[in-house]
Amino acid sequence: MRVAFVGPPGAGKGTQAKLAAKGLGIPHISTGDMLRSVVASGSPLGQQAESYMNAGRLVPDPLVLDMLEERLKQGDASRGFILDGYPRNLDQGEALSHLTKLDRVIYFEVGLEDLVTRLVERRTCPKCKSVFNLKTSPPKKAGICDHDGTALIQRPDDRREVVEARFETYQRETLPLLEYYREAGVLRTVKATGGVDEIQSAVRKALGGAI
Ligand code: AP5
Repeated sequence: MRVAFVGPPGAGKGTQAKLAAKGLGIPHISTGDMLRSVVASGSPLGQQAESYMNAGRLVPDPLVLDMLEERLKQGDASRGFILDGYPRNLDQGEALSHLTKLDRVIYFEVGLEDLVTRLVERRTCPKCKSVFNLKTSPPKKAGICDHDGTALIQRPDDRREVVEARFETYQRETLPLLEYYREAGVLRTVKATGGVDEIQSAVRKALGGAI
């Protein structure tokens, strides 16, 4: 199954993509995680990407497309994949259509006002990419990843002022994709408010009970 998760920052795409990918036995491909690895490498490309990410803007399309194309060529993606964070504008949707055909696009519908708290309270493990939330899913030991003991960090783009810019980018660039995929007949909407388990079962239904 080839699936893309689309929704505003903090909608829970990453949280649900990890669960669905595990259930389906296919890879979770997050362009945000891939870009953060490039940034961590300190390469000139990473420095370029970082300036866009920390301003809440999209990284230029060609850079992200090259990265994604390479990732989709890896053997595990031939069984299917969950794309998390790609596509993010109409040009990326078009570019993706030349690489692969999506079976489903799941739209995570949630009001932006609910998301600021989720994002500013999020902490992530820079090593294993596990995600915690100081309010809703705190780590067992404060500031430490439950899985590998690494010190948790706050993503630089989860600062309140950057979060606002990310919402604006989402509304301007990503929202038009919903109509594009609705017309293609692959869009399914999941209400992304409520608990993680509740949303997981809605995602399962939206994927046609495939998990
Ligand atoms: P990216 O990493 O993709 O960020 P995003 O789309 O803004 O989404 P987030 O990771 O912030 O949120 P999420 O929906 O995954 O929520 P999560 O599950 O973590 O992109 C970052 C940047 O990279 C972009 O701004 C851009 O610059 C660049 N980029 C990436 N892809 C690109 C592309 N294709 N083109 C160009 N640039 C690109 O959950 C959030 C929090 O809420 C967590 O703390 C979690 O524990 C908690 N939570 C989850 N579910 C629930 C629930 N049901 N109830 C309560 N809390 C919950």
